[in-house]
Amino acid sequence: MAAAPEPSRAAAAAAGVLLVLAVLLTEHTLAAEALSIGVNYGQIANNLPSPRRVSSLLSSLKISKVKLYDADPRVLHAFLGTGVEFVVGIGNEHVPAMVTPAAAHAWLQQHVAPHLRAGARITCITVGNEAFKGNDTALQASLLPAMRAVHHALGALGLQGRVNVTTAHSLDIMAVSYPPSAGAFHPTAAAHLRPFLSFLSATGAPFLINCYPFFAYKDDPARVPLEYVLFQPNAGVTDPHTRLNYDNMLYAQVDAVYAAIQAMGYTDVHVKVGETGWPSRGDPDEYGATPEHAGTYIGNLLRRIEMKQGTPLRPAVPVDVYVFALFNENLKPGPASERNYGLFYPDGTPVYNVGLRGYLPPPMADSQGSEGTRQVIHLLALIFMASVAFALS
Ligand SMILES: *[C@@H]1O[C@H](CO)[C@@H](O)[C@H](O)[C@H]1NC(C)=O
Ligand SMILES: *[C@@H]1O[C@H](CO)[C@@H](O)[C@H](O)[C@H]1NC(C)=O
Repeated sequence: MAAAPEPSRAAAAAAGVLLVLAVLLTEHTLAAEALSIGVNYGQIANNLPSPRRVSSLLSSLKISKVKLYDADPRVLHAFLGTGVEFVVGIGNEHVPAMVTPAAAHAWLQQHVAPHLRAGARITCITVGNEAFKGNDTALQASLLPAMRAVHHALGALGLQGRVNVTTAHSLDIMAVSYPPSAGAFHPTAAAHLRPFLSFLSATGAPFLINCYPFFAYKDDPARVPLEYVLFQPNAGVTDPHTRLNYDNMLYAQVDAVYAAIQAMGYTDVHVKVGETGWPSRGDPDEYGATPEHAGTYIGNLLRRIEMKQGTPLRPAVPVDVYVFALFNENLKPGPASERNYGLFYPDGTPVYNVGLRGYLPPPMADSQGSEGTRQVIHLLALIFMASVAFALS
């Protein structure tokens, strides 16, 4: 190659413009490639990275849908400008108080409105979590009035249509979930669910269901085929009423919920999976809680969600899923599995390899802030491209 002539000023300027364009295009492509899958960002732990570092981790993973169990202002602030879409939550302990319109209004004014004004994307509020799992009848009775109060207060704040109001249910609300077409709610929950469905239908909010095929497998490993719960190739099961074939349990559970909703007279309510996951560790009696099975479940789930698959009953509606959970949470009570649902250890190392290669910046990035980190990455990208351009010239 002949010695490159000194580039003229004009050529240098043109190269500069091209570099900036290249960087912008790269960013655009990355944004366009955001994953469809969402994650639950639980924080019942004392060793998690700061929200700023988590924000960098998620942007390196191209995950742009996050579900919180509260409305942690540090998280919402750290994610400003990232375009990440949030589901925020009102904890069960706060639900009974929310039936008072003034309390719902005050909660929104403190926890949601300022973040929306600052540019945060909050698209959904869950009022309570798995309220029908326990025996808390006060919580159950206040759930729908609280949701109505929150919805009304959104309107009063001029936010109607911008934020959905719903709750997340445990699959325990189902009395029948197989075959999917026979899906039916538990009689105790059904009395509450009828007006709840009317609210969702009238407001256009989704029905969130938390589904764990792991529980079914753990309870009966001899009879529940592992391939069927892990989305591996298998003959599947055919619903005798619809003749639809199911090759995995998650889709069968979602369709059972659709059937139960339809049995109550509603056909326009969208079902989303608020949580699903598989623990990488468990107690000796928690059969199947291994990193291998967890990696297979999450890896196969990811592939299907990114293919925008629908369920057999709703083939044209891509299944919407929030994986549980982003991190292992060391302070969660209960069996060992509860502390081992994470995709990542708190230091950002993946618990198993499903091709999600993320980057958790070191703690020092906190002092610079995510803006600083982004600028450094930009600068490095520019230097890299400039050297490539120079080498090619
Ligand atoms: C709910 O109450 C019943 C009887 O009233 C009891 O047997 C059961 O253990 C309770 N369940 C929970 C989760 O508290
Ligand atoms: C509310 O939920 C519905 C049903 O899932 C969805 O189509 C709509 O986009 C959601 N609204 C917002 C503001 O995200």
